[in-house]
Amino acid sequence: MEAFLVEGGRKLEGALKVDTAKNAVLPILAASILTEDAVNLTDVPHITDAENMAEILTILGCQVEKQGRCMRVHSGSLHGWEMPDRLSKQIRSSIFLLGPILSRFRKATVTYPGGCEIGLRPIDLHLHGLRSLGVQVNEEGGLIHCDGSQMRSGDAYFDYPSVGATENVMMAAVLLPGVTTIHNAAREPEIVDLQRFINAMGGQVRGAGSQTIEITGVKKLHGVTYTPMPDRIVAGTLLAAAAITGGEIELTNAPEGDMVAVLSKLREMGCTIHEEPAFLHLKAPERLRAFGQLQTQPHPGFPTDMQVQMLALESVAQGMGVVVENVFENRFTHAGDLNRMGARILCSGRTAVVQGVEQLYGARVTARDLRGGAALVLAGLKAQGVTQVEQANLIDRGYDHLEDQLTALGAKIKRTKG
Ligand code: UD1
Repeated sequence: MEAFLVEGGRKLEGALKVDTAKNAVLPILAASILTEDAVNLTDVPHITDAENMAEILTILGCQVEKQGRCMRVHSGSLHGWEMPDRLSKQIRSSIFLLGPILSRFRKATVTYPGGCEIGLRPIDLHLHGLRSLGVQVNEEGGLIHCDGSQMRSGDAYFDYPSVGATENVMMAAVLLPGVTTIHNAAREPEIVDLQRFINAMGGQVRGAGSQTIEITGVKKLHGVTYTPMPDRIVAGTLLAAAAITGGEIELTNAPEGDMVAVLSKLREMGCTIHEEPAFLHLKAPERLRAFGQLQTQPHPGFPTDMQVQMLALESVAQGMGVVVENVFENRFTHAGDLNRMGARILCSGRTAVVQGVEQLYGARVTARDLRGGAALVLAGLKAQGVTQVEQANLIDRGYDHLEDQLTALGAKIKRTKG
């Protein structure tokens, strides 16, 4: 296990280009098996979630070639419809493959992904959506057998706008004759990117980004070269890193139009942010001001994936604030570690009350999930002394060498063997 050693107290300064989005790359990799032609993805970050997804595709029979930041997926030789157990447990988003595999083979077997650190994360909405398209689902001994021999287009309604379930149904419906409509769909920008990708392959999807998505089935998709959208959470994390250190940075390739909630909270905390066509510029005050409240919501509400980073910022802001986590049930697991660094956070259920302190102090802390790990790094950047963030590998799931990105902005951080 590796760890990050962070020496706090330096203001971040400089400019950086934001990577493409993990949450766009993963469903796009899954959707690349909807065509038997080659798909070339450019500018794919080196993150372990994408590497694991590529490994699953290889095990299922795809040819996956990686060259630098390009990934080429050729699924003409795809033969597997059973998802490998070990990897599907490791990477929850392998569930995205259910829709595309059903589309190719009219059958699929997957392992129940189970819970994870941030919550139970059931897949009932994914299965409900697929049942709406005529898929027969049998759950047996931890395995889910899907029979798509009677698949047809139709209407899928979600009780809750799940991102993954919306994407799964979109992908399952692309090649079904007729029109499929998804009602109460999730509206995350990465779903819009998936629509763009599918349409670039010859699909006919419209409405992504709104609550109603309409998919008109086409006979066949063709290969494409595609660059996924930039990562709004990576961009937000970098801005938060600058903000917590009282720094000033400029980001290029930031999807600022998709970051309204995060930018608005950072402004509320006293940061000056300029949104220019070519870059996003943030200048932080000497001391952040506490936001009164922050509530996570499905997009366009405040993203749950930025909640814990903001908790770290609020820890050192002047004043008091309340954070309510509405999306996942267990996303305050890093509050304890922040408190060990000197923060004053009180959590009860889905609510955290934060009394800002002037200073944090370096400590040995542990990343328990991807975003929480990043938040501990941010706290370390602010803290007096050295912070050791254990289990850096969890941060590598979604940040391409976070230590290099922060070093480029003037931070003192290095990777060590745990
Ligand atoms: C995606 C993102 C993740 C982000 C989340 C919410 C990817 C790869 N991951 O995850 O980074 O934090 O959206 O913005 O894109 N739920 C059910 N039943 C289901 C599915 C979900 O109850 O079948 C619940 C979940 O447990 C959770 C909530 O719905 O409480 C939101 O989950 P969902 O929108 O599905 O998130 P993911 O697609 O898993």
